Amino acid sequence: MIQSLRGMNDILSSEYERFEYFLTTASEIAKRYGFHYIETPLLEETALFKRSVGESSDIVGKEMYQFTDKGGNDVCLRPEGTAGVVRAFVQHKLDKKGGIHRFYYHGPMFRYERPQKGRLREFHQFGVESFGVDSVYEDALMIMMVSDTLKALGIGHRLKLNSLGDQNCMPAYREKLVRFIESCEDAICPDCERRKLTNPIRVLDCKNEGCQALYVKAPKLIENLCDGCLSDFDTLKTILDNHAIGYEIDTNLVRGLDYYSKTAFEFVSDDIGSQSAIAGGGRYDRLIEFLDGKSTPAVGFALGIERLLELIVMPEPTRRGYYLGAMDPESIPDILKAAESLRQSEKAVVDYEAKSLKAHLKGADRINARYCAVIGENERKEGTIWIKDLVEKQESTLPLTHLIMKENA
Ligand code: HAM
Repeated sequence: MIQSLRGMNDILSSEYERFEYFLTTASEIAKRYGFHYIETPLLEETALFKRSVGESSDIVGKEMYQFTDKGGNDVCLRPEGTAGVVRAFVQHKLDKKGGIHRFYYHGPMFRYERPQKGRLREFHQFGVESFGVDSVYEDALMIMMVSDTLKALGIGHRLKLNSLGDQNCMPAYREKLVRFIESCEDAICPDCERRKLTNPIRVLDCKNEGCQALYVKAPKLIENLCDGCLSDFDTLKTILDNHAIGYEIDTNLVRGLDYYSKTAFEFVSDDIGSQSAIAGGGRYDRLIEFLDGKSTPAVGFALGIERLLELIVMPEPTRRGYYLGAMDPESIPDILKAAESLRQSEKAVVDYEAKSLKAHLKGADRINARYCAVIGENERKEGTIWIKDLVEKQESTLPLTHLIMKENA
């Protein structure tokens, strides 16, 4: 039997209910915040991710679904959404237009990671990207949006916050850090050896326990920020305090993608095991120019949908629409006509098998219908339909034409 690939799951209808509820809730909140939907292709030129997510990142270095297509192009399945949205922003010359552009998106992402609980090779993100706002208020807006979304879904969380500095303070910090790494070089893991050369700050979130113990003494990013970055970080904290959004400063939070500067944040859940990051984001003011666009400030985030699904507190299911059935085969055409008419505005599901009223009531219950509508020999002869409202527990018999006309009105 052919199975789906490891780390790539089907989403069955029974699970999609949660998925859809998440998408509706998150999209509605994004729209309320003034964001507009954007969709970009799943497949992009490999160079896009090399130049944005960064060659030194694990995502580009080890996890890309990369191949040569039939035209000889080096392409890959997108491992994340930001790069594609930035490409579209530049390609469609929105950078040249100026002003503020706010987008949201959702869809599958692909990373060739070792699958485990909460870590898939094909997973889904809901993300937003905001272009053109320099103010740290926009960074706060991002965090408020994630917080609002998680609150609306009933998901408990913690927020980790850091500042990664900018081109004024980062180069000097990086040098300081490299000197520190060199001072303990004999004891660090091979991955950190590599990171020291490619992107030294990534050593700070090394998972190796030996390295972690060493880096306790490493110079801290937050203590090496320039005045501008420090002042923005203080303002951000004040805004979050004013909005009663709790946070923890995590000086080792460096994120797994190379394009960030200044604000970096992650939302984590303590209820889903080791893959606890449910959302991540931050500012990336240099990325647009790295991808040949006009320098434009930008900030965004993405939520990992699969990691959230089991945490969502679903609203009580409400009974909806009609279940229609016939008690004899001759009544089936009338039932079909009624269903066709109802479907102009309502959910209407037909059972094609002639059976008893009791069996139809059970069927209506099974699909959580609000109304059970049945036609038997008597109703057919009288041109009526029997309807039970399964919420109000009220029964009535209506002329079939009345029902059809009502729905067509
Ligand atoms: P990221 O932190 O790599 O950021 O991913 C965002 C979220 O996607 C994570 O917090 C996690 O919930 C989920 N996720 C990541 N990898 C997996 C996986 N293998 N299986 C299941 N879920 C996963 C980004 O992708 C950035 N583009 C976010 C961003 C947008 N920054 C600025 N704008």
